[in-house]
Amino acid sequence: MLQLANMAPSTHAAVLLTVCLLAWYMTMPSLAASGEFLQCLSANIPTQLVVTPSSPSFDSVLVSSIRNPMFFTPTTVRPLCIVMPTNASHVQAVVLCGRRHDVRVRVRSGGHDYEGLSYRSERPETFAVVDLANLRTVRINRRAATAWVDSGATLGELYYTVAKAAPELAFPAGVCPSVGVGGHFSGGGMGMMMRKYGLPVDNVIDATLVDANGRLLDKKAMKRDLFWAIRGGGGNFGIVLSWKVKLVRVPPTVTFFNIRKSVDQGAVNAVAKWQTLAPALPDELSIRVIVGRDALFQSLYLGSCGELVRTMSRLFPELGMRRADCREMSWLQSTVYINSGDTKTPLETLLNRTTSLSTFSRNKSDYVKKAITKDLWEKIFPWFNKAGAGIILLEPHGGRVGSIADTATPYPHRSGVLYNIQYVAFWTGNGTDAPNWIKDIYDFMEPFVSKNPRGAYVNYRDLDIGENTVVGGVTSYESGKAWGEKYFGGNFKRLAITKGKVDAGDYFRNEQSVPPLVSRK
Ligand SMILES: Cc1cc2nc3c(=O)[nH]c(=O)nc-3n(C[C@H](O)[C@H](O)[C@H](O)COP(=O)(O)OP(=O)(O)OC[C@H]3O[C@@H](n4cnc5c(N)ncnc54)[C@H](O)[C@@H]3O)c2cc1C
Ligand SMILES: *[C@@H]1O[C@H](CO)[C@@H](O)[C@H](O)[C@H]1NC(C)=O
Ligand SMILES: *[C@@H]1O[C@H](CO)[C@@H](O)[C@H](O)[C@H]1NC(C)=O
Ligand SMILES: *[C@@H]1O[C@H](CO)[C@@H](O)[C@H](O)[C@H]1NC(C)=O
Ligand SMILES: *[C@@H]1O[C@H](CO)[C@@H](O)[C@H](O)[C@H]1NC(C)=O
Repeated sequence: MLQLANMAPSTHAAVLLTVCLLAWYMTMPSLAASGEFLQCLSANIPTQLVVTPSSPSFDSVLVSSIRNPMFFTPTTVRPLCIVMPTNASHVQAVVLCGRRHDVRVRVRSGGHDYEGLSYRSERPETFAVVDLANLRTVRINRRAATAWVDSGATLGELYYTVAKAAPELAFPAGVCPSVGVGGHFSGGGMGMMMRKYGLPVDNVIDATLVDANGRLLDKKAMKRDLFWAIRGGGGNFGIVLSWKVKLVRVPPTVTFFNIRKSVDQGAVNAVAKWQTLAPALPDELSIRVIVGRDALFQSLYLGSCGELVRTMSRLFPELGMRRADCREMSWLQSTVYINSGDTKTPLETLLNRTTSLSTFSRNKSDYVKKAITKDLWEKIFPWFNKAGAGIILLEPHGGRVGSIADTATPYPHRSGVLYNIQYVAFWTGNGTDAPNWIKDIYDFMEPFVSKNPRGAYVNYRDLDIGENTVVGGVTSYESGKAWGEKYFGGNFKRLAITKGKVDAGDYFRNEQSVPPLVSRK
């Protein structure tokens, strides 16, 4: 195989120069370039790892991690090919072939992107997908309480592997086990232990990445800004292959509860009080709320039932929590239970990578810094009886996630944030249009949520808040501000400057990738 990693510097420069010049007058590669790109791949990567539309398995490989049927329709803009690397040199080869022949790549780890940007394009474009599903090793160092986890692993695989190797250890990340580590970590990652231990990115201590020049870098070889940017900047600064994380301690038994309150049973009061209470509770206690026609309070406590009942009756008597509400289990079991609601569900379901096209859905997000009044909650609840109504999820901040500096990682929604809101609309049938409900409730909420800019969470990607435009071959910084400052606040500019340093030619680009801001001297 061609020694891509050790390509002579002069060759690098030549490739770079060619690509930069081409970028000025080419927006899409010609058919010839696509053919040459595929030839370049076949010269450097085993053919069975490159799946083209002519292959009988193309559709099944493409759909393998797609959940939202909205992004798997006859008119979806699909990739030229899907590359399934089994080692780092394959990833380097795709990037070098792509640069040489002007074919962009999109990176897919778990494929859960809310807008499908890891495997489809909003506009006609020729691109390849690098699908990291084969790169999913999790290596635990129990004594050091660290792990190297590859981007293609799912959260379920990470949780399972950690807890089986060391039951006293765990990792604070998201709730859905089929979410990919690569995308999740790239956007921050919210979960039930973030109040105690922060986000995944707050626990990342090293990483390996293939940059836009095809080089394989670790933390030491990366510029400081690049290592900062990959920990929450939304991806697309390079292809992160693996992450070294600090693992965290959990007790042998944790306690979970689900308590549902209807409006008649005082849901309005309880949610109104929850807003300032939940972010101020002991860090070991996380209570999130799923609001629909009623309110479901879902809680993970890193401790025993007895202590939890005492804390709840002292601080949150409105929920009326009793011993009978406690479900005591291992932390690992709690990662299954939160989705299944059944303590008998086998732990091995965490390893199930098979996803299926589920219902159509569309999501939006907000952050709340000032508690919404009880009167207003009285007006919010009726929204869940309207036609096309979905649900909202409220995730408490505070604790460790709230006390880390807003600039420590690209995830800026920390100091003063009470909670995140996720609006979720579901619908069935083959319409790709979301119900008006989600747009309407999002408009209705505007005066009551964070503003200037109105915040949003990059892992709940939403193209309605803005899409890039390309000017002179690169994404314009001005166009990126519309969505970028919502996701990243004051960190957006530093992200753009970093992008300008590490990928000035904007090779890793999509509808919401951070634009390169190159200072003109
Ligand atoms: C059912 C469901 C439940 C969810 N639950 C939670 C939750 O509890 N908490 C939470 O915070 N989020 C949650 N999410 C959102 C999830 O964190 C994001 O969608 C995340 O980006 C998905 O990562 P992925 O690897 O699966 O996605 P992908 O679609 O593979 O990637 C997402 C984005 O990251 C980029 N990217 C992917 N891998 C890499 C890489 N290795 N290097 C560089 N860039 C990369 C992609 O190009 C794309 O832009 C949930 C999503 C779903 C669908
Ligand atoms: C990657 O796999 C190729 C076979 O496709 C092999 O030749 C190469 O040595 C491997 N590289 C590494 C770094 O393991
Ligand atoms: C919206 O969020 C819900 C709940 O987390 C999830 O099941 C759904 O897949 C998300 N929607 C999209 C478009 O991914
Ligand atoms: C894995 O999940 C898929 C989709 O949810 C489901 O159809 C399948 O039965 C599951 N497989 C196992 C072994 O549980
Ligand atoms: C999808 O649309 C077609 C024609 O527009 C219709 O015949 C079919 O019943 C629809 N399917 C569903 C599940 O709504």
